[in-house]
Amino acid sequence: MSETPLAPPAAVEIVEVAPRDGFQSIQTPLPTVDKQRCIQALVEAGITRMEIGSFVSPRALPQMADTGELVANFANQTGLRLAALVPNLKGAKLALAHGVREVVYVLSVSETHNRSNVRRSVEESLDDLARVVECLRNADGTVLRLDLGTSFDCPFDGAISWQQVDAVLAKALGLTADLPLEVALCDTTGRASPYQVAEHFTRLRGRHAREGLDWAFHGHDTYGMGVANALFAIHHGATAIDAACGGLGGCPFAPGATGNTATEDLVYALQRSGVQTGIDLPRLLAAADRMAALPGGKTASHLRQVPRERLCW
Ligand code: COA
Ligand code: ZN
Repeated sequence: MSETPLAPPAAVEIVEVAPRDGFQSIQTPLPTVDKQRCIQALVEAGITRMEIGSFVSPRALPQMADTGELVANFANQTGLRLAALVPNLKGAKLALAHGVREVVYVLSVSETHNRSNVRRSVEESLDDLARVVECLRNADGTVLRLDLGTSFDCPFDGAISWQQVDAVLAKALGLTADLPLEVALCDTTGRASPYQVAEHFTRLRGRHAREGLDWAFHGHDTYGMGVANALFAIHHGATAIDAACGGLGGCPFAPGATGNTATEDLVYALQRSGVQTGIDLPRLLAAADRMAALPGGKTASHLRQVPRERLCW
């Protein structure tokens, strides 16, 4: 009996996170106008979902202090779904007040990383999630995404099992019960392996599948596993994948991690396999060139190194 080849999905949603995960990694805050030019280039490349920044303490991350201004600039862009990351209720309220309709609430599975990143325990982050949920329930037309940091590996404690993720996810889902929700399993360090990604998605989806619950993957490319991990996530139920144009990034609170998987590398892998992403690759590479020219920006992308005339579009 012959085996049927694994069929790629018809479409995958790409969430561009360079304006958040990428720009926060550049030590000297970028001028807002430079960010605007990069974001405009991403829009012109056909990006339809974007994490434009975060509402966090300006002392913790001065690089994100102009997120409100960026939201105001791009909120009315046709066809662009904007999201902003928040670490607490204050961030969620600020996001809503600035017109953000999609709030990304971040907490880490690892106690140590959660304390390093948002300066409180996982339990305290979950308590605040309950308040954020209440806040969003009273704000019509808003969407919640949960970013579960260190879902595979912690920069301080090492490997994270799917059972550890399950323990936190179960509590979070209990708090969000009837809300539509996208849960992103985040490989904060880039140290996940494709089969670990497959195991976590399979086990967790098996335990928590419900109406209105979608799954996403957020990966870093530190160990060169980014595209492979994303593909394994897609084949085990993720319908949205985070990536950063140019492979920009490196979380200030995750020592040893480099940038997100480069959007152009992921788009190339998908489009060469016939998967629709809606993204124009030559224009995306033009945006990546712009990212690479940012002072202090550390980029990493395979596709940018290939002579353009040798690329198959
Ligand atoms: N947005 C803007 N300002 C905020 C804020 C938010 N979401 N949350 C707190 N602040 C302000 C407070 O008002 C306070 O300001 P003040 O000193 O002028 O009164 C100050 O920040 C400290 O507030 P506090 O509640 O004591 O927070 P903290 O110092 O314990 O820091 C966080 C906790 C979560 C606010 C901070 O660690 C943070 O912003 N982390 C961001 C992590 C991140 O984005 N990581 C990368 C992405 S995963
Ligand atoms: Zn990240």
